[in-house]
Amino acid sequence: MNNMEWIKKLSDESKRNILSFIETNPDAPLKKYEAVLRDKDFNVFYNAPCLVYVGGSEKVRSLQVDCALAASYFMFSAAARGLGTCWVGLGTSIQDLEIRGQIGMPGDYRIVAPVVVMNDLVCDLIQRQRVDKRKGIDRKKCAHREAVAMIKELSLSSIS
Ligand SMILES: Cc1cc2nc3c(=O)[nH]c(=O)nc-3n(C[C@H](O)[C@H](O)[C@H](O)COP(=O)(O)O)c2cc1C
Repeated sequence: MNNMEWIKKLSDESKRNILSFIETNPDAPLKKYEAVLRDKDFNVFYNAPCLVYVGGSEKVRSLQVDCALAASYFMFSAAARGLGTCWVGLGTSIQDLEIRGQIGMPGDYRIVAPVVVMNDLVCDLIQRQRVDKRKGIDRKKCAHREAVAMIKELSLSSIS
């Protein structure tokens, strides 16, 4: 998928479903993402210009392993072409059947690996932010907004 409006729509749908899951399961590990998911400007796909969903029928017993392998090879292949990727688990929760129909993902298919493809500089930036957060470095207030703006700008010019 390379339509950013659609990718945003999928981000919103996934956020909505995860938030409603958290409401009924407040002890779920996903709870730690609640604040960021409530931020309407946060796009789980980082405003990436390209998104690939890897999934398949729930009937396949090895579905998770198959999809993880396919996603891994896809990510290596993108890296070999100088592109950045990120597996975005927060983008998995697509429940609306109309939306699923439009992206060719039937209701009985499971989305295992949403993978965004983007400019590798953007990917580095996202990664750095994540490491800062883990180390407790509070560059957030200045860096977060700045990074989001930069990500948007770079994403738009990233791949053609
Ligand atoms: C199953 C799975 C789900 C992930 N979901 C997300 C996600 O929703 N958002 C995100 O930014 N990164 C996500 N990632 C990317 C990981 O955070 C990434 O693998 C991580 O950056 C690896 O580097 P690190 O462990 O050295 O920080 C996911 C990775 C995996 C394997």
